[in-house]
Amino acid sequence: MSLDTASPTARRHGSNAGQPLTRRDGLLKVTGRATYAADNHPDGMLYAVTAISRIARGRVTALDVGAARAHAGVVEVLTPANRPPLAHDPDEKMPPFGFRVEVLQDDTVRYVGQPIALVVAETLEAATEAAALLDPQYEIADARTDRSNGDRFGLAAVGIGAPPRTVHGDLAAGLAAATHVTEAEYETPAQYHNAMEPHAVVAEWHGDRVTLDMPNQAMALSCAAYGAYFDIPAENVLIRSPFLGGGFGSKAILNGPQILAILAARMLKRPVKLVLTRTQMYGPVGHRGHTWQKLRIGTDAQGRLTALHHHALCATSSFDEFIEPAANASLPLYDSPAILVEHEGLRLDIGTPGPMRAPGEASGSAALEVAMDEAAVACGMDPLEFRLANYAETEPGTGRPFSSKALRECYLEGAKRFGWAGRPLEPRQMRDENGFLVGWGMGTAVFHCPHFPAEARATLRADGTALVETAGADMGQGAWTALAQIAAEALGLDPDQVEFHSGISTLPDGGIAGGSGHTASAGLALNNAGEDAIAKLAAIATADPASPLFGAGNIGVVARSGRLHRIDDEGRSESYVDILARAGQAEVIGTAKAARDPAIAEAHAMFSHGAVFAEVKVDPDLGQIRATRLVGAFAAGRVINPRLVRSQYFGGMIWGTSFALHEEAVTDRRTGRIMNADLAEYHVPVNADVPSLDAILIEEDDPYVNPLGIKGVGEIGITGTVGAIANAVWHATGVRVRRFPVRIEDLL
Ligand code: MOS
Repeated sequence: MSLDTASPTARRHGSNAGQPLTRRDGLLKVTGRATYAADNHPDGMLYAVTAISRIARGRVTALDVGAARAHAGVVEVLTPANRPPLAHDPDEKMPPFGFRVEVLQDDTVRYVGQPIALVVAETLEAATEAAALLDPQYEIADARTDRSNGDRFGLAAVGIGAPPRTVHGDLAAGLAAATHVTEAEYETPAQYHNAMEPHAVVAEWHGDRVTLDMPNQAMALSCAAYGAYFDIPAENVLIRSPFLGGGFGSKAILNGPQILAILAARMLKRPVKLVLTRTQMYGPVGHRGHTWQKLRIGTDAQGRLTALHHHALCATSSFDEFIEPAANASLPLYDSPAILVEHEGLRLDIGTPGPMRAPGEASGSAALEVAMDEAAVACGMDPLEFRLANYAETEPGTGRPFSSKALRECYLEGAKRFGWAGRPLEPRQMRDENGFLVGWGMGTAVFHCPHFPAEARATLRADGTALVETAGADMGQGAWTALAQIAAEALGLDPDQVEFHSGISTLPDGGIAGGSGHTASAGLALNNAGEDAIAKLAAIATADPASPLFGAGNIGVVARSGRLHRIDDEGRSESYVDILARAGQAEVIGTAKAARDPAIAEAHAMFSHGAVFAEVKVDPDLGQIRATRLVGAFAAGRVINPRLVRSQYFGGMIWGTSFALHEEAVTDRRTGRIMNADLAEYHVPVNADVPSLDAILIEEDDPYVNPLGIKGVGEIGITGTVGAIANAVWHATGVRVRRFPVRIEDLL
C-alpha cells in the first residue's frame, strides 16, 4: 500500500504532478540569496525598537522619555502620550483576525512583554540603548498567572477560536452502560512559535501608499486590515513576502509591534525597520495556549466505547478570547454512541494565544491519545486493536460520510513497518543491549481539511512556456514547487517550462497559507487558471480552418506536452507555439477563482488521517528518555510531490517529539514572566534528539475534498506523535505521565 513515487491520480493523469522534484527555492536559500523582510534597507531607513513591560498587570506610571530622546541618533519616542491615531480602534477586534492589537493605546499593562513604547533612531544600537533608558516605573497589580488564580469563564458568545459545545447522544447513559470508565486529566504547556525568522517589517510610505516587506501568511486579508488601520484602500497596501523563515500560524495574524513601526514610518516620513528580538516574540505575537484537559472514556466488555467526554480548560489573555479548540480532537476519530466535547476559558495576564501549527488537534490529540491508551489498558487490549475496535466508519455523531478515510490502511501499514506485532501488552517488559528500558506506543493522527478562497492567473506565452501567478506564501513547505507542478499539469507542460511567481500582494489572492490548506486552495486556483488558459487556446485553434484542430470544438481537446490533441484522434494535434503564432497573439491569459462547493463540504467530513508508532528508550537509573524510532503512516488524498510531503511529515513528527519531550514556556508564578524566553532555554529538538523517522504515504483517492483530491499534510504529523511517544514512555516504564512535556523527574 505504501506509495513512494507517485500518487495514483497523478499516474492516471499521466502528469508531472506526483514527481519528487526538489525545491525551486532550495538553491536560493542554501546560498543565502533568498532575501527575507529584514534584509531590506531602503535609503534613509530608520530603526525601531519596542520597549516591553516587565510586569504582568498594572500601569506604567513613568517613562524617562527625556533620557531616551537625548540619546544621540534618536529621532522619535512613541508612547501612549503621543502615538498618532489609527483609523480603526485597536481595541475593536477586526474580523476575520478577531484579535485586539497592542499599539500603545493606554498606560495599562496586560502582560509581560507588552510593547510600552517604540523608539526610532538612526541606528539599531541607538534605538536599543535609548529603549533601555526609558526606565519604566510601574504600579503593580496582582497578576493572574496560573490556574490557581486565573478567572474561569464559559464560552457563551465569544469570537475567533471559541469552539462550540458539541453533544452527540446521551453521555450519562453511555457512562452508565460502561464496564470501565477511564478518567484522567492531562496538561499541555504554553508553547511559542519560535520561527527562525523573527517577526519583522520594513515599512515605506509614498503619500497614501505603503510598501511592507514582512513575512506574511495571509496577504490579502492583511492588506485589507492595514488599510483599515491606516485609512487607505487595501490596494494601497503592498506586501512583499517572498520567503518566510517559518510562520507556524503566528504570521497570519496582525500584531501591535508591526503596526507601530508602520505608523512611525508615516509619522516620520522615512522608511522604518522593526525586527523583534526572540524575547520580544514572547507576548504580542501569539503562542499555543496552556490547557488542562479532562477525559472520560466509557468502554464495554468488548472494548467498545460507550461514552467519550472531553473537557478542555484553555488559558487565554485578559482582553481576547482565543481558545485552543483542543477538545474538538475527540469529535472525528472514534465511534461512540455518546460524545460530549466542551471548552472553558481561563483568563490570565498573558499575551493572547493564537493558532500554532495544528491548533486544537496538537494539544487535544496529545490528551486523547494517552487517554485512549489508558482505556485500552483498562480493557486489557492492545492499543492498536482497541483503536480498530472503535474505528469510525462515518463521522461520529453526525453519521456523515468521510470524503475519504484510509486510516485503517495507515494503522496496518504503519504497524507492519514498525514491527508492532511483537509488542508485549504489559509495560516494562523490554530492554535493549545496554539495559535501557524500551517501550512502544502509538497514536492516531488527524487534521481537518480547510479550504480558503484563492485566485490565480496563468499566462501561456508565444514561446510555449507559461507564467503562473498567485500571491501565496512559502514558509519552507515547498509551495513554489508543488504549486508549479499543479499548474504545469493543468497547462500540459513540464514543470520547468512553468515560471511561478508568488509572495507579493499585487498578484491574485493566494488565500491563507495556513491550516494545512495552502496547496489545495492556491493549487486549485492555479489548476483552474491553467484550464482557463487552455480553453482559450483551444477556442482559437478549433475556430481556425488552418489548424488540424479546426472544428473539434464540440469533441474537445486535451493538453499534453505543449500541444493540444483532439480527444477522438490524438494524432491530430498542434503545438501552443504554432497556435499562438498563426493567431498573431503574444500570449493567452487564463484567470480563475477557486472556492469549495458548500453543498459538498456540508455533506462530508473531511480529514487527513494517520497512525504514528514510537519507540523510546529510558535509562532505568537516570530516567533520561530518548525517542529512538518513529514510524508514521499518513493518508492525505492526492500527493503532489512525495519528497515535499514526506518532508512535511518529518517536520510534524519532529514537532510532536518536541511537544512530547522538550517544549515548554515556563512562567514564574510570582511575576508572570516567562523564564525561558530565548532559544537557549526554550527547548526544541536538536539533531541528536530526533529519532529515526519513517513516513509512509498511503494511497487515498478523494473525489470530494476538492477537484484535485488534495488534503493537507503540514500539521497532521504533530498529532498522534505526542501521544505515541508518551504511551511508549508508559510502556517502557509503567509510569503514566499526564503532563507535557514528559520530564526525567516524572519517571523517578
Ligand atoms: Mo498554521 S497554525 O494554520 O500556520
